[in-house]
Amino acid sequence: MNSELALTRPYPFARLRELLKGIQPAMEEISFGIGEPRHPTPRFVLDAYERAFPLFARYPAAKGTPELRGSIAQWIERRYGVKADPETQIVPTNGSREALFSIIQTLVDRHAAGGRPIVVIPDPFYQIYEGSALLAGAEPLYVPLSAENHFQADYSSITDEQWKRVQALIVCSPNNPCGSVMTQQHWDEVLALSERWGFTLISDECYSEIYFDESRPPLGALTAAARRGNDRFENIVICQSLSKRTNVPGMRSGFCAGDARFMKSFLLYRTYHGSAMPTATQAASAAAWSDEEHVRENRELYRRAFAVGQPAFNRYFKAPMPDASFYLWAKSPVEDDLAFTRSLYEQVGIKVLPGTFLSRETADGTVPGRGYVRIALVATEKEILEGTKRLEQFDASLIRPIERAY
Ligand SMILES: Cc1ncc(COP(=O)(O)O)c(C=O)c1O
Repeated sequence: MNSELALTRPYPFARLRELLKGIQPAMEEISFGIGEPRHPTPRFVLDAYERAFPLFARYPAAKGTPELRGSIAQWIERRYGVKADPETQIVPTNGSREALFSIIQTLVDRHAAGGRPIVVIPDPFYQIYEGSALLAGAEPLYVPLSAENHFQADYSSITDEQWKRVQALIVCSPNNPCGSVMTQQHWDEVLALSERWGFTLISDECYSEIYFDESRPPLGALTAAARRGNDRFENIVICQSLSKRTNVPGMRSGFCAGDARFMKSFLLYRTYHGSAMPTATQAASAAAWSDEEHVRENRELYRRAFAVGQPAFNRYFKAPMPDASFYLWAKSPVEDDLAFTRSLYEQVGIKVLPGTFLSRETADGTVPGRGYVRIALVATEKEILEGTKRLEQFDASLIRPIERAY
């Protein structure tokens, strides 16, 4: 077996299942645990998919069709106000998960002079960052996101010796799970570090279309870089997705865009990986990237969900409005978020994800995600209302300590 596989950790949802195993909740389950969009997929996307069925008779190209790359390029221009060349700077991927994983495999040179490569990742984080770094032979270096820093990364503890080994740095804005959004100032800081040390900035922007104020869409890496004069996006790759934007997590569609040098190597890598996007998915994706109306409607549904859910959760636990995304990053009433998660499920059937499962212990023994839970407001308004009403019956004094590690 590939010995690096043994370095990966069980996925947070597997750990959650283990944590809640054997518990009979006193009420029917309502899940705020998994961040899977539950709004309906727009009809026109399904129709485009169906119309493309005859294309299954042909192999898809790893590079994607000109129609799909063209529609993505137009979206990038509308959304980010910058131009990306559909021939050389855009590669469709099977969701942003596949993009994040395979771009790291493409970029990281495990034989580089100077020692084991480092991939910097925020903590708490989306677990694919860590697994992709480990499987590429790199050392993940976790940078904590804390309330004191408004859940923005503070890179000041990274030494020059470490910076020399950093080959990639991942940012996630809007952030899963913290909901924070990077401003130009935050982008400037990280772009300046990339200019100084020569690493690649990988920007996970898959929640960029879930925001609350129509006049203030989150700023992306491409726009921020272009404002600094880097309009060829040197050393920058963004990973995007239709999963949240169009409610098609099952379709597996996203893209990478940025530095043409990487896209060329990325295509070579993907040829071997065999991860070309299926033809009908490409056709449906081209339709989806070309339409904004359904995305506005989707945002309206989240706005309503947050209008109901956020004040209610905030009344019982500290659960501030995120800058964007569909998560509440709520303070657990006790430091032990695992014990809280279990008790909440047991007493009132509400499932949330403990922050500890999205985090790692730092050198000083602290765990940045500990003391928090992630609440995904992806359920219907009715379910959210029902869930939050039950909070009245939750008794924090009944939380029992956890006896073993999960
Ligand atoms: C932060 C983050 N990045 C990437 C993904 C991958 O999403 P997809 O592969 O559906 O685009 C997710 C999925 O939940 C996520 O939370």
